[in-house]
Amino acid sequence: MTIAVAKSIPSQRPLDLESLPVFTPDPAVLSDQLIVGLDSRDSRSRAFNLLRTTLAKRMKEKGHRLVGITSATPSAGKSFLSLNLAASLSRVSEDDVILVDLDLRRASIAEGVGMQVKRGVSEFLNGEVSELASIGSRVHDSQLVLFPTKAVSKNTAELISGPVFEKFISGLRQETGNSIILFDLPPAFANDDAMLILGQLDAYVMVIDSGKTNTKQVQDVLAMLDPVPCIGTVLNRYNGGFADNYGYGYGTSAYAKYYD
Ligand SMILES: Nc1ncnc2c1ncn2[C@@H]1O[C@H](COP(=O)(O)OP(=O)(O)OP(=O)(O)O)[C@@H](O)[C@H]1O
Ligand SMILES: [Mg+2]
Repeated sequence: MTIAVAKSIPSQRPLDLESLPVFTPDPAVLSDQLIVGLDSRDSRSRAFNLLRTTLAKRMKEKGHRLVGITSATPSAGKSFLSLNLAASLSRVSEDDVILVDLDLRRASIAEGVGMQVKRGVSEFLNGEVSELASIGSRVHDSQLVLFPTKAVSKNTAELISGPVFEKFISGLRQETGNSIILFDLPPAFANDDAMLILGQLDAYVMVIDSGKTNTKQVQDVLAMLDPVPCIGTVLNRYNGGFADNYGYGYGTSAYAKYYD
């Protein structure tokens, strides 16, 4: 009798969010980087609570779970918003909330929490690491999970197109249960990164820099990223409106206002 034994394929560890390494941010770094979303006692976090409620409701209604955060122009506040919003969401969510840094040139998420990245998203995408479990970290005592990256100086297009990138996104989609996954993206006009990445996600949020981003730029982003749904826009550095009325302003400017 002959028994055929299939050639064994090295098995990959499934992504177990519970057993990721734990990272404890330095409160001084969070304060310096204006990351307040993890602290419910900080009154500045309330503006993000308003955003999180609207966004979570919209995502649930539409069945969207993987959402990118982009803008027309640079420095609109995407990374600031991504981290604060993910942190704020993680405080009320039944499931973990995951934030992935796909602005590979900037690598702002690691900087925002003061993390030294040994192996991150860039190492997964360039093939040095093959397991998602090797590049994620849980923020101490929270439901917030981060997938940070090291800054990449070369052309990023090759990292975000092709089968490894597809494996990265499908792994996140399939191995994270009902978790919301937010992605910090580059500005839509910077290069084609945001467009390529969003082709694999469910929807995006557009950050509008109050006073800087104009209507034409907003329309151009909507047209450029079509048919990916824009699930909402955030008016950042906005003076006035409900945020200020409720005293949620930071310094002289409110953090953000969310609208259709
Ligand atoms: N509403 C706000 N109030 C105070 N500071 C803010 C606000 N929004 C953004 N900032 C600060 O402005 C700077 C730029 O923000 P951020 O890095 O989040 O922008 P970005 O859109 O991610 O930029 P890039 O296009 O370079 O990735 C950061 O120092 C951030 O802390
Ligand atoms: Mg950024």
